[in-house]
Amino acid sequence: MNEFDIIIAGSGIAGLFCAINLGREKNILVITKDALNQSDSFLAQGGICVQRDDEDFESFVNDTLKAGHYENNIKAVETMVGMSREIISDLLKIGVNFDRDGDGFSYTKEGAHSRARILHFKDTTGEEINGKLIKKAREYENITILEKSRVIDILEKNNTCYGVAARINDEKTENYYANVTVLATGGIGGLFTRSTNYPHLTGDAIAIALDRNVKVKNINYIQFHPTSLYTEKPGRAFLISESVRGEGAILINKAGERFVDELLPRDVVTSKIYQQMDKDNMPYVRLCIAGHVKTNIKERFPAIYKKCLDEGYDITKQCVPVVPAQHYFMGGIESDLNGRTSMRALYAVGETSCNGVHGKNRLASNSLLESLVFSKRAAADIMKNWEVKPHPIFSVKNYPSNDAIGEADKNMIINEIRRQDDINAI
Ligand code: SIN
Repeated sequence: MNEFDIIIAGSGIAGLFCAINLGREKNILVITKDALNQSDSFLAQGGICVQRDDEDFESFVNDTLKAGHYENNIKAVETMVGMSREIISDLLKIGVNFDRDGDGFSYTKEGAHSRARILHFKDTTGEEINGKLIKKAREYENITILEKSRVIDILEKNNTCYGVAARINDEKTENYYANVTVLATGGIGGLFTRSTNYPHLTGDAIAIALDRNVKVKNINYIQFHPTSLYTEKPGRAFLISESVRGEGAILINKAGERFVDELLPRDVVTSKIYQQMDKDNMPYVRLCIAGHVKTNIKERFPAIYKKCLDEGYDITKQCVPVVPAQHYFMGGIESDLNGRTSMRALYAVGETSCNGVHGKNRLASNSLLESLVFSKRAAADIMKNWEVKPHPIFSVKNYPSNDAIGEADKNMIINEIRRQDDINAI
């Protein structure tokens, strides 16, 4: 029988940071749908917010609340901001690099931030952090990693979770038992035609929660990033980081005129871009970096430079066409500040969870921070309240064999999003 102390579904930074913060004596299984590095955390460009000094606590909290339309859970926001320096020091200890400016760190700014407080590693901050977490998780002998495998259900009885059913390599389905299960399967971008997320991120944990009556919250709160590179090719939309605008880039319409304050909150800029596209009768607006960003573009934004060049645009010389794309999910499985869900022995962390920290619209570069803060807290809570519970035996069910989330599951999520939208419109 497959028996573990703790099972974690998902290997983005929320899943892995939870795993490495759990006790080394615990037998942990991490199940991830694709390869370890194919997570949205890996794609994060902009950076990670940190409270810069004592005076910054209040303004960082206020910026987060304002961007979130004051629908945020204030306690969650204060907890996240209050732990931000501790998290950065944890990351530095495991070898994460951030760009420096002289003796100190280099901080960048993005939309709706009242000051520069975002630490970054060029334009590949997610890769830097997630890469170091993967290295650490692989070093720990108590962590087993199962790649190319998908959690398709939880083993649940009387509102208690006893583990998961997982499809391994799209070949066989097996039950995996655990004392505690953590869902960290990321967002829902795979349900959208145009998204910056990996297509395999289809909200699997949300479908499971809806199916198993685990409470979900705000699942119609979906963020569209203002600037993905416009292309007619299908596939994942390539993000052009908001930090490019934070460092001076401007948006222009068909006539070559600015039409918006580029550093307003994301939802506002996105809506202005859609309005402008309508007025211009164009499928994009343009983002101009050259001549506006003061730093060395190739050094500061190497990945964006390279991708745009591959697509035929030299951002050091010309403007690029951009269009909004689905980017982030503020809703999710309802959780408290320690990642506990409405089901016993089931936790949810990262983008798949919702403790209300982001309100209705996430402040730029709060996603990595939020994932790290609340997954660390979940790990601490799991360890503190450890109690072994005997599990019943579940027979292996006959699930559909497709590796992708089934059409029925997709429709269930989409219908719930629509239902919530109707409720909110009333
Ligand atoms: C970006 O670099 O614009 C994305 C960062 C984020 O999603 O906060």
